[in-house]
Amino acid sequence: MEIIIQPGAEAATSIAARIVARLLREKPDAVLGLATGSTPLLLYRELIAMKLDWRKVTTFNLDEYVGLPQAHPQSYHSFMWENLFRHVNITKKNVHIPDGNTKDIPNICAKYEKQIKGAGGIDLQVLGIGTDGHIGFNEPTSSLASRTRIKTLTQRTRQDNARFFGSEDKVPHHVITMGIGTIMEARQNLLLAFGNTKARAIAEAVEGPITSTNPASILQMHPVTKLCLDEPAASQLKRSDYYRWVYSNKPDWQKY
Ligand code: PGA
Repeated sequence: MEIIIQPGAEAATSIAARIVARLLREKPDAVLGLATGSTPLLLYRELIAMKLDWRKVTTFNLDEYVGLPQAHPQSYHSFMWENLFRHVNITKKNVHIPDGNTKDIPNICAKYEKQIKGAGGIDLQVLGIGTDGHIGFNEPTSSLASRTRIKTLTQRTRQDNARFFGSEDKVPHHVITMGIGTIMEARQNLLLAFGNTKARAIAEAVEGPITSTNPASILQMHPVTKLCLDEPAASQLKRSDYYRWVYSNKPDWQKY
């Protein structure tokens, strides 16, 4: 894991944006895994401002709520088109987001896995983290080998996401999410976390044992995972001085 600690979310996002931009310049037909929620909003804004060429890029989103029509303002379809896709020259057929409104969830999930494989796998997966350590919507105790499937949200996640829906009772109970096994197959993972509400989940994920009770902790087993954190999200890390030291002593050729 590479832990990049920056004073604020803007600085941490700029580094993440440079990592994504470099990939799209080096590999114009890259396959990107994308995330939703508050955390990647700044990243998408920066990527839009960079005016990159998205024509040949393929995307797979991590998750979608079950039972929301695509056009619902809180669906992740709506989120992605509103906050990224409609501002860049992406090719619509290259965009993939699980269909949460399907009648046949197992079939959609199996097809999603096949589509990811068919695209050659994910080059870079953008991740947020839940206050409970979830990645995608793989809630604590998710199998660390899981594939795309239906999950039931925890009460805590429904409370965390109530702000988007106006009230908790409007937050769907179920989601379709890429599995942890799916995420672990991405060639690179880029996790962003901002704010002190994420500090505990980050400390457990980075410095705690690998455990399904903090699903993000499995990223310790991933060969290329970078975490871009602001100071509050990094505030419970015991070895933060070392991570800063490593970052400030990177050889030039490794800098972003
Ligand atoms: P957030 O969600 O970016 O809205 O905090 C992160 C997540 O649940 O993965």
